[in-house]
Amino acid sequence: MATIISNNILSDLNKLIDEKSADSIFILTDEKTKELCLPVLFESEKLRNSHVISIAAGDENKNINSALGIWEYMVNNGATRASLMINLGGGMITDIGGFTASTFKRGMDYINISTTLLGAVDAATGGKTGINFLGLKNEIGVFAPAKAVLISVDFFKTLDDKNLRSGFAEMVKHALIDSRESWNEVLAFDLNHIDFNKLKTLLKKNIDIKESIVAADPKEKGIRKALNLGHTFGHAFESLSYRTEEPVLHGYAVAWGLLCELYLSHIKLNFPKEDILRLRTLIKEYYGMFYFSCKQYDALYELMTHDKKNESKDINFTLLSDVGEIKINQTASKDEIFECFDYLREG
Ligand code: GLY
Repeated sequence: MATIISNNILSDLNKLIDEKSADSIFILTDEKTKELCLPVLFESEKLRNSHVISIAAGDENKNINSALGIWEYMVNNGATRASLMINLGGGMITDIGGFTASTFKRGMDYINISTTLLGAVDAATGGKTGINFLGLKNEIGVFAPAKAVLISVDFFKTLDDKNLRSGFAEMVKHALIDSRESWNEVLAFDLNHIDFNKLKTLLKKNIDIKESIVAADPKEKGIRKALNLGHTFGHAFESLSYRTEEPVLHGYAVAWGLLCELYLSHIKLNFPKEDILRLRTLIKEYYGMFYFSCKQYDALYELMTHDKKNESKDINFTLLSDVGEIKINQTASKDEIFECFDYLREG
């Protein structure tokens, strides 16, 4: 699989299409990327006769009904195993597009073109595909890497501030699991005045970090769990927020989850306090704080016990004993978890 951080998306895409010589091309979009990003792809003559499938935007539409619609369209429009799917969108589109392509006639090739920073730094690479089912995120899916992933920071220039910040949280995570050098680079990046050239360099490094972990453990039996840092608490915050009027973006929940999990790393593995303080300053500035009361601790704990990353009744965490020192398969007591909630609420 090749990930290309592209300076010229059309010429890179044209090359990939020539290499593949598919019998037909299907482009999957959502209603937003159809309007904002598809016209860029249509500048390529090679794509003008493609079939376009558009589904409703939003993670709530990453479901079996949307998948059925995609498969039905492909059957009715003569897709074969030699066809090519191009997924044009954020993580929702690359997840469902990767899933429907890799299960259609036992698998056709697909290319991801990530149009969001969050998607570029996370969902588009690594071969995880899937849909939500019965209210459970990514419950049905397969590991099936894209033939190629294309990323153009030009698409990110249309993202609002919140979506850029949401993507940046996964970059913070990658830096923490990688090294002090990466951590210092992320700390030095000014998210209030984004330099897109610097972002491109940082993105390249982040994707390399993720891809080297995925190459070592593509099916998440071991070290790939490092990529779950911040997500055990983070998913609980995200799920809790969906029960309120104010759902939060994934990256915001991950940012608060990172703070809790570094605090837990400190309690259990003596992770340096000064790095938690650095993270705290960054998170307060870019993400603000997650407001919840101690009456919600039990509900959050309950959500954490249902996390699909758990392999037994214990809640599974990835923690750090230092920046870049990963410890997978860690557990914590209810009291320790509640202490982390207290720490986050101190603001
Ligand atoms: N999103 C984490 C992973 O790809 O493993």
